[in-house]
Amino acid sequence: RARFEASVREAAGVTTAPHRRGEPLLQHGAEVLAFDNAPDGDPAVASVREAARAALARGDDGRAPRAAHLSSRGEVDAVVGRARGLAAAWAATGPEERVAVLADVANRLEAARTDLLAVMAHEAGKTVGEADPEISEAIDFARWYAGSAASLADAGGDELRFDPVAVTLVTPPWNFPVAIAVGGVLAALAAGSAVAMKPSPLAARCGETVASHVRDALAAAGHDADLVQIVQVPEDEVGRHLVAHDGVDQVVLTGSLETAELFAGWRAGRRGSGGPRVFAETSGKNTLIVTPSADLDLAVADVVRSAFGHAGQKCSAASLVILVGSVGRSRRFHDQLLDAVTSLRVGVPDDLGTGMGPVIERPGGKLLRALTTLEPGETWAVEPREVAPPGDGGGAWAGRLWSPGVRAGVAPGSWFHLTECFGPVLGVMRADTLEEAIAWQNAVPFGLTGGLHSLDPAEIELWLSRVEVGNAYVNRHITGAVVQRQPFGGWKGSSMGPGSKAGGPTYVAQLGRWVDGDGGA
Ligand code: ALA
Repeated sequence: RARFEASVREAAGVTTAPHRRGEPLLQHGAEVLAFDNAPDGDPAVASVREAARAALARGDDGRAPRAAHLSSRGEVDAVVGRARGLAAAWAATGPEERVAVLADVANRLEAARTDLLAVMAHEAGKTVGEADPEISEAIDFARWYAGSAASLADAGGDELRFDPVAVTLVTPPWNFPVAIAVGGVLAALAAGSAVAMKPSPLAARCGETVASHVRDALAAAGHDADLVQIVQVPEDEVGRHLVAHDGVDQVVLTGSLETAELFAGWRAGRRGSGGPRVFAETSGKNTLIVTPSADLDLAVADVVRSAFGHAGQKCSAASLVILVGSVGRSRRFHDQLLDAVTSLRVGVPDDLGTGMGPVIERPGGKLLRALTTLEPGETWAVEPREVAPPGDGGGAWAGRLWSPGVRAGVAPGSWFHLTECFGPVLGVMRADTLEEAIAWQNAVPFGLTGGLHSLDPAEIELWLSRVEVGNAYVNRHITGAVVQRQPFGGWKGSSMGPGSKAGGPTYVAQLGRWVDGDGGA
């Protein structure tokens, strides 16, 4: 047992940095993930539940429909110009000043936790069980990137100096509207850059709330709050004008591969600030493999959590499970999985008993196809259905509640095997051998997360040596990367730019220019 555990630890060490004595332990997110599983009577959880209940009942909390002001070309020019005007002063700050601002943001987010929960629930449809650890992740990002800001000055030794760029455009996604917004904005600030943030129109209030905390922290420390500005643009030539703007030195994007390619195209041919400089974390089509040696109870729980957390709307989510050999032939895994999936309680985020919340908008395109149409040879192990929201018509939730679906018999090379659908649908494939399963796992155009459930050290070693993903998880769910311990980001179609991982030791250092200590490039 001890030898086995040591080998699993060693294997898992490929993506999980061990904690060293004396280091600050940024596992806030992981700790709060226990929220879901704690007994109801647990006093700590009871107080979070109470606070969440109160916040969800309050008034101005993201529920009101937004009529966002969309900027014109002239307003975009003004935002970028203002950021450029302030950039030199921020670039000249020392590490202590940047660390102080980032640390203050962490404290402000902690103090605002339940208000943030409410906005995330009502605007972005996040359940408390999903939103609460996301806020913790945001706090982890703030503290971790504060550490990066502190170490940047000495990182180049005597030979190299880090020079900030003036303006970073940060475009966070709607599915992690707080953690990824905080991560992008603070990484850029830690790197000495001013920031224009363009939140997703589907989570604009979350973005504004994040920006207001960062602006308050800047102002409280005597800096100009406009070092971080929000800009909303229509998705037409004004959006292009912003992304391709001469005054924007780099773009930090989390979104689909299509969006990243669009941005890169708009910024192609730039010379002034060192080429397109698009740093993007993009799409995934992620698989968990389960072998006959696995702890099947644990595997079922991790598959369900990975596939249906936030209704499957995570770039890291499991969209496929590949059952190897006897796991696929016997009823045990199959029946247990179906029991677990069909007992997930679908509902609205206001209800603290909701297990799986709404999708971000009425499904269309690939997601609608995944929810309603089978490919040849596939059957529904669990057929997804639209669920009526509570109340009269459900208001904002109408058309957005779907029960989870499981597609059996997904064939290698089929549409569902290779396509990211971003919603509560899991496909099941059956492979004869682990080698075959790995080949199918790697056949997708993306390489973001992947998982293996196996208690056989040789299988773990084989899998880790072959799997083509950025975040490879052994005997663990495949979402919810913990800042510092599981730096996040992939390869193949899952990333654009140098691919430094968010929440890792090199992320901030890529967001500037390294020059000779005596000034030469
Ligand atoms: N970083 C997020 C996760 O790991 C996307 O699930």
